[in-house]
Order: sequence, then structure tokens, then C-alpha cells
Amino acid sequence: MKNSKNIILIGDGAIGSSYAFNCLMTGVGKSIGIIDINMKRVQGDVEDLRDALPYTSQQNIYAANYADCRYADLIVITAGLPQKPGQTRLELIQKNAVIIKDISNQIMANDFDGIIVIASNPVDILTELVFKTTGLPRNQVIGSGTALDSARLRSEISQRFNVDARSVSGYILGEHGDSEFPVWDFTTIGGQPIRKWIPENRQDEVLEEIATTVKDAAYSIISQKGATFYGIAASLTRITQAILNDDLTPFALSIHLTGEYGLSDVSIGVPAIIGANGLDRIIELDLNEEDAKKMSDSAKLLKNMDIQNS
Ligand code: LAC
Repeated sequence: MKNSKNIILIGDGAIGSSYAFNCLMTGVGKSIGIIDINMKRVQGDVEDLRDALPYTSQQNIYAANYADCRYADLIVITAGLPQKPGQTRLELIQKNAVIIKDISNQIMANDFDGIIVIASNPVDILTELVFKTTGLPRNQVIGSGTALDSARLRSEISQRFNVDARSVSGYILGEHGDSEFPVWDFTTIGGQPIRKWIPENRQDEVLEEIATTVKDAAYSIISQKGATFYGIAASLTRITQAILNDDLTPFALSIHLTGEYGLSDVSIGVPAIIGANGLDRIIELDLNEEDAKKMSDSAKLLKNMDIQNS
């Protein structure tokens, strides 16, 4: 029988275990089964996480195997190699494509028919790979895309303008990587367009500074502590919550497009409302000419990336 709010996490590295911990602490999901190539680490994490149970909600944390996917509502994939200092996300493509294809096949061999959320990099290319390999409808295959970058944008704006990050709205769209871009026309603080918060003679300079800080955030973090995990884990937890609770919340996510934004046959970061069925709707923002070009350039770059031997 399908156990409602049953999560399977595949990939128990720094991101995966931070995600599991965050789900536990915030009461997201009813059960979390963890799979990794290193099942000893999983067993250690399971024991460690169970120690937190008396202080949290009642959840079932266990070391899972692929057969458990049959009963899962949601599978979160964080497996694969992470970026090293100075490395781009796209440079991970060949090795991670092999890992993610294998995982997709194992999931489907167990008749999974829920929603997959993938965060492994390069996330847009791997989202497209999961979509194609599993054959699941596109609403069931969601990449974390630029959700994290959009959170970074809101956080950066909150610091600069000294305001609650939750009152900042806005998105980074496109590739989760170097060709991503902010949509300033749709970025507001307390409902007021961001440009109105900046003296006119400094607008371009300040907005450029914010965009660069956000784009380079992962490089900065990785150069100092070797990896990023709390930010992406928090984004994944919120995405999970929106799906399991049918919240119908918009996030910038990597979704396989079928004509939206004039694009198809590519998964790329677009604003998407998600709930119990995974993708519910894509929000098609009326992008200005410059942003529309950035979106199509970013999609072109992703489409030109080849996965060899797959
Ligand atoms: C980052 C990694 C998850 O942006 O791509 O932190």
C-alpha cells in the first residue's frame, strides 16, 4: 500500500544528509528512506538522525533499497560528484550522467510512479536525462534548477536593503550555472519594484553587482568550505513540502519545456507552480527583449552539451 508522504532520498552526501536533517527538524514527510552507494554511511546517518526524533515530529527514518521506491510518493536525487573549487557545474556532466541514468533505471525497474526531484549537477541536463530515461510525464520530473539561485537573490537583496528576505520576490532563470540571469522587471521588495529602491544613477551598477554575487555564490562558498549544502538542502525541503502538502507554490525550477518561452526539448529554470501532481503550471513571464535573449542563449548552451555514450 502506498504510504502517503513517503520520501526516498538517493545520495547521502553533505546535501542529502542536510536535507534529511532539515526534513526531520521541520516535520516534512512522514517517512524518509535513504539510499547511497555507501550504505555504511547511510546506516550511520539513520542512527544519528533517529537520535533527533524525540525533539521533532514522528517520522520513520530508515536505510532503504531500490525496492522501496515502489511505495514512495517522492524521490529526491542528490547523488553524484559535487563541484571542486574552480570547477563549473557543466564539467561534471559525463560522470554524473552515468550515475543518474543508472539511478533512473533502477527507480523505474521498481514501478515508481511518483514525483522525482533532482538536484545533482549539471541539474538542467540531468533533469532532461531523468525525464527521457524514466519516460515519466514531465510534471513528475522536477529539477531544483534556479530555486537556490532565486533564494540567493532574495537573501542578497535582503542584506543590502535591510529587509526580511521573505518579503523579497524575484527569480533567477535559465541554466543553474554561469548563463543564469535575474529578471529585474519581476523583482520586488514589499511589492515595490527593485529599481525604485535604488537611486537612478546607480541602478545598473547595483543590479549588476547583485547578479554577479548571486551567480558566483557557489564558487565563493566552495572555495572556502569545499562544498555547498545548507542552501540547496533548504530549497529541496521547501520543494518537498510544497509537493507533499499540495501547496501550489511557485519556485524557479528546471522543467522540460514544450513550447513555453519559445523553447522545447530542454529542461531549464522557469517559474513553476508545484503541488501534489508535481508541476501544476508554468508561469510564462512577459520577458523584455534582453531577458528573452538571455533565456534562449542559456537554453542553446544546454542543448549543445552532449552526453557521451548514453
Ligand atoms: C550550488 C550547487 C548546489 O549552487 O550547484 O550551491
